[in-house]
Amino acid sequence: MKAKSVLVKANAKINLTLDVLRKRPDGYHDMYMIMQSVDLCDDVRVSIRDGSGITAVTNRSYLPNGEDNLAYKAAREFMAVSGMSDFRVAIDIRKRIPASAGLSGGSADAAAVLKALNSMLNRPVPYSKLLKAAESVGLDAVFCFEGGTKLATGRGEVLSDLSPLPECQIVIIKPDFSASTPRIFEQIDSVPIKQHPDSAGMIAALERGSLTDVARRCFNVFENALPPRKREKIFDIKNALLSYGALGVSMSGTGSAVYGIFDKSDKAAEAYRKLGKKYEDCFLTKPTNATRH
Ligand code: C5P
Repeated sequence: MKAKSVLVKANAKINLTLDVLRKRPDGYHDMYMIMQSVDLCDDVRVSIRDGSGITAVTNRSYLPNGEDNLAYKAAREFMAVSGMSDFRVAIDIRKRIPASAGLSGGSADAAAVLKALNSMLNRPVPYSKLLKAAESVGLDAVFCFEGGTKLATGRGEVLSDLSPLPECQIVIIKPDFSASTPRIFEQIDSVPIKQHPDSAGMIAALERGSLTDVARRCFNVFENALPPRKREKIFDIKNALLSYGALGVSMSGTGSAVYGIFDKSDKAAEAYRKLGKKYEDCFLTKPTNATRH
């Protein structure tokens, strides 16, 4: 085999809404989420050559290399669904998306590996098999593989297309703590959810193409399940983003990243500049559309 190498951008996602409907008999939860991919991304370089085996490295020392990295798992799943394993895979990831932030950074890298491997092989794997591989890696990897604006139901892996988020600027900030996904799901089971997002209203607002109506409906049930001190930090960031002119603010996923949606690029740039001095993980980004493979 001729040695080949490709670079794929792995886009982060935010939750415009996040609702937890019920606990399932299998221990997971039925979700109702409106997800949006953004152009904040990691650079994922995937190289193949003759041989066997997988290596995965990143530029962040605290992230796992090798088998515990979702990108590694994606290469393994690709080999399983394609039936091809007579090549050596080297994955090198330049991370920008903060980890444990609710932005699906690890799943985005995994989806990028699937796209990269599929683009380099002479006999590409059918789309449905790639989605199966993504699901085996993790539920969020399915969304990351597709991207765009989607309704995610089931455990988060059942996707349907929605009208795209109107053009806007998004400032994302991750505070100095990370949220534990299993713990926040346990927490949500222990208290009744008092307020749910207006998901139907959000879908209608997307259909109308009204950024203002979308932004005011951004809502995540996990915010109220956080312990008080962490919740305060989230509310501080939300208030700061609003004070710079954000039309809507919310936490993403299981946290702890928070985003603000802006219609005016000068206001978003000012928020990014000023809040970037206070918060190390601060990003100015915008929505991206779905990619068809
Ligand atoms: O998908 P991921 O592996 O990140 O999920 C981590 C944990 O979050 C699961 O082990 C489960 O406890 C919880 N979870 C859930 N319901 C979902 C998704 C995740 O309870 N729909």
